[in-house]
Amino acid sequence: MPKDRGQRYHDETRYHRHRMPREGGFRLEDPEPFKTYPNPLSVVELPPPDEEGGMPLWTALSGRRSRRDYSDRPITRQQLSQLIWGSYGVSGRYGAYYLRTAPSAGALYPVETYVVVNSVQEVEPGLYHYNPLKHHLEQLKKEELGQALARACLGQGMVATASVVFVWTAIAARSQWKYGERSFRYIYMDAGHIGENLYLSAEALRLGCCGVGAFYDDEVNQVIGVDGKEETVIYLGTVGSLH
Ligand SMILES: Cc1cc2nc3c(=O)[nH]c(=O)nc-3n(C[C@H](O)[C@H](O)[C@H](O)COP(=O)(O)O)c2cc1C
Repeated sequence: MPKDRGQRYHDETRYHRHRMPREGGFRLEDPEPFKTYPNPLSVVELPPPDEEGGMPLWTALSGRRSRRDYSDRPITRQQLSQLIWGSYGVSGRYGAYYLRTAPSAGALYPVETYVVVNSVQEVEPGLYHYNPLKHHLEQLKKEELGQALARACLGQGMVATASVVFVWTAIAARSQWKYGERSFRYIYMDAGHIGENLYLSAEALRLGCCGVGAFYDDEVNQVIGVDGKEETVIYLGTVGSLH
């Protein structure tokens, strides 16, 4: 049977002990490690997250499930802050590197976090980009996007009924200068860590969470306003209150 593109990618990016690929090699310029939007519609400050205590880890792990049925009770701004920090916030520093709650290959952090807010107390519905250095949200759109995003996710209703939807994009260049064609392996591994962090953070707050891998890429990119080339959606996660 002929190999599909996924198998070929995996085969062609293998490391061999005596035949290592020449990594990187197509860096044009140093990619910026953080994206910021200089002229957001507004900035939403997030309260400092709790970095200690909370639900014991084993309790969160054993209780975690994908939950898709949400009540219409909005989550709080404090909970949103905790979810964002818990999934991919800054938790330390090593020289020039700002380390995060999720590990990242080479500490390059190619993933960006956007949130589509449907119903969060004290936060207007709309699209926001997360600034991890400042732990605040940059508002990019001021409209209800839940239905449009749900349509872009193959009509999955939970995307519209969730309080907030995390949309994770990749800026592959941040990884490619170092890892070349192997980058996408690492980018998806990074996304998996971030996704599980969101699941566990939601569980610790007794909220429901579900990862979303089924989406029309171009349509999600359009909703969040990225070009699909330099930056493209790779994964989403919904969070909402439980009944
Ligand atoms: C990468 C990935 C993509 C997923 N995509 C979707 C999705 O698009 N829609 C959905 O309802 N669940 C999705 N899920 C959730 C899985 O269906 C769920 O994790 C699986 O059924 C196991 O159930 P559990 O998470 O409750 O243990 C996804 C999970 C992962 C890890």
